[in-house]
Amino acid sequence: MPVITNIEDLRVLAQKRVPRMFYDYTDSGSWTESTYRANEADFQSIKLRQRVAINMENRSTASTMVGQPVAMPVAIAPTGLTGMQHADGEILTARAAKKFGIPFTLSTMSICSIEDVAQETGGHPFWFQLYVMKDRDYIERLIDRAKAANCSALVLTLDLQIIGQRHKDLKNGLSAPPKLTVTNIINMMTKVRWGLGMLGTKRHGFGNIVGHVKGVESMGSLSEWTARQFDPTLNWGDVEWIKKRWGGKLILKGIQDVEDAKIAVNSGADALIVSNHGGRQLDGAESSIRALPQIVDAVGKEIEVHMDGGIRSGQDVLKARALGAQGTYIGRAFLYGLGAMGEQGVDKVLEIIHKELDLTMAFCGHTNIKTVDKGILLPGTF
Ligand code: GLV
Repeated sequence: MPVITNIEDLRVLAQKRVPRMFYDYTDSGSWTESTYRANEADFQSIKLRQRVAINMENRSTASTMVGQPVAMPVAIAPTGLTGMQHADGEILTARAAKKFGIPFTLSTMSICSIEDVAQETGGHPFWFQLYVMKDRDYIERLIDRAKAANCSALVLTLDLQIIGQRHKDLKNGLSAPPKLTVTNIINMMTKVRWGLGMLGTKRHGFGNIVGHVKGVESMGSLSEWTARQFDPTLNWGDVEWIKKRWGGKLILKGIQDVEDAKIAVNSGADALIVSNHGGRQLDGAESSIRALPQIVDAVGKEIEVHMDGGIRSGQDVLKARALGAQGTYIGRAFLYGLGAMGEQGVDKVLEIIHKELDLTMAFCGHTNIKTVDKGILLPGTF
């Protein structure tokens, strides 16, 4: 077993252990993948200022996101099909997040259901991400289910009424449970750990959906299914009724433009997430870390600003925080850990990111994340 020291090690291991269609689903962006690549690459061009001979003792990365305490300003992003990266993936990740003291966000498109995650994590509050489907009765029931499960924030995704094309998903015929074609069977036979895990769980389909949406007993390919169920008419009027029905902390995900950020403020939401959906929707959009400063300048005093996209290290978290993000989200980073080693792998991801964040903050001359600002960045590089 290789010594795991960074997120890339876990990505390599996940690629070996997770069936190709699910690994590819994670490690891909839409069309040319230019935004997917820019999300990561643009972090690299931002440089930090090294400071020395400052007392580095007693450091803290603790902060808050939507008023809730977090051990570091990182939440688990909502990601679809997490329970296909590893058996019971959502439950294992929620447990790892709970132990570490950061929020876990469950996707509407999860394999384990809201109720399952609530039960298996002892009722510990998690966040729920909502996709709006055409069947509005279902959406109302889904919001009510999230309330009943004690979810402590609702993350409403605004950038996926229609789905961006990921070539690999179409070529692989992505579906859950996977279709048993000859190619898939041959590929899955080489993933012994994954297969044994899957044999040991009943959770193989979309737990929040199948049996809850009228007429949906199973799903064809992800893209066809999304085209049939997701509501392309979603608009700011819907944000209003969803906010009312939910009644708790509301986070709007998928804001990339200053004009949209201003509308988000007027909607009364508690936070917005600067996000291009991990480069999976509008290919050619600016990276999230480049979009962040303008949005913070325009609305940062009126609404809490978070960001996701491209975070693979604690250094990235620190840079986002310096540019005004009160919180960040990791998607692929935790999925690599999960696919590689299950719950232990997610523990490892959080430990790695925390250590990188803590040490890098210290090298930049700070002992408390709350004092970090643009001053730690080299002028001209952000
Ligand atoms: C859905 O959220 C996706 O990015 O596939």
